[in-house]
Amino acid sequence: MIQEKTVENQQLNPWLVSVAPMIDWTDRHCRYLHRLLSRHARLYTEMITTGALLHGDVARHLRFNAQEHPVALQLGGSEPADLAACARLGEQWGYDEINLNCGCPSERVQRGAFGACLMAEPQLVADGVKAMRDAVSIPVTVKHRIGIDRVERYEFVRDFVGTVAEAGRVGRSVSRVYLANVLGSTLGPVLTGFVLMDRLGLEQVFALLPDDPPRQFRWRGRVHQVRRAEGPERIGEEWWRREIGDVSITHVRDYYRVEDQDGGRFWLFRAGLYGDPDAPAKWWLHGLFA
Ligand SMILES: Cc1cc2nc3c(=O)[nH]c(=O)nc-3n(C[C@H](O)[C@H](O)[C@H](O)COP(=O)(O)O)c2cc1C
Repeated sequence: MIQEKTVENQQLNPWLVSVAPMIDWTDRHCRYLHRLLSRHARLYTEMITTGALLHGDVARHLRFNAQEHPVALQLGGSEPADLAACARLGEQWGYDEINLNCGCPSERVQRGAFGACLMAEPQLVADGVKAMRDAVSIPVTVKHRIGIDRVERYEFVRDFVGTVAEAGRVGRSVSRVYLANVLGSTLGPVLTGFVLMDRLGLEQVFALLPDDPPRQFRWRGRVHQVRRAEGPERIGEEWWRREIGDVSITHVRDYYRVEDQDGGRFWLFRAGLYGDPDAPAKWWLHGLFA
């Protein structure tokens, strides 16, 4: 009991712990059990195909227990109009989030041209996300992998996220694409009303490696979802003052200007580079601006 109370006071990020969608497992009975184990984890349904919802027994697929909140409905499909119709059903039935499956690699899913193979068609995914965002006011998210088949290049997942995030930027502002959070190209007039702060460490920073801006971070106990970002602007050591062999790569700083879900604007940076065990990359807040 004491532990629960402590956790409650910490204003946990609702996405910090999620139970993955699993066909034949995460049905409403299983999710009810999971909710008894934790009040804070985000729960996902099994993937439900758009075909099953549009032509089948909707109540059988969408019924759930109120205790399960927050619970996300995972959809399997690729046709934007069908996805939009099913997302609308999900919202009507009281789900907290609609999630598109671009992460399941099973053969059954591949035959239906959805799941992980959708990562090869980012524009189709973006169209589906936009159609769903236009249809509902709850968050629309995408579950995807960091690569498919033998393609594990960073550029592949970066471009996928970038294309899908573009769709997240259009439409009603209350929705968001999580994992593919919204990246904008301009923050308008910047550096007006700028407040420099002592450097402050940021916690729970989620960013695509190696050099994307944060998509989410926690500062002073509050979770900030990044909607738009600019950067990086790299500032390195004054290498010309040293012998070339003494210049350290860990002194690199990548600066970003980001805007959160409430319009708050932050100037932050990552010191160091990912993958260096001696000087792990760390995120800092450097200032706020209007
Ligand atoms: C039995 C089972 C069913 C799964 N069903 C789904 C699903 O419905 N939707 C989905 O996005 N992923 C599904 N997955 C994948 C999981 O959500 C999760 O991504 C996976 O287990 C993590 O490891 P892997 O992706 O490397 O297999 C399933 C996994 C398992 C083991």
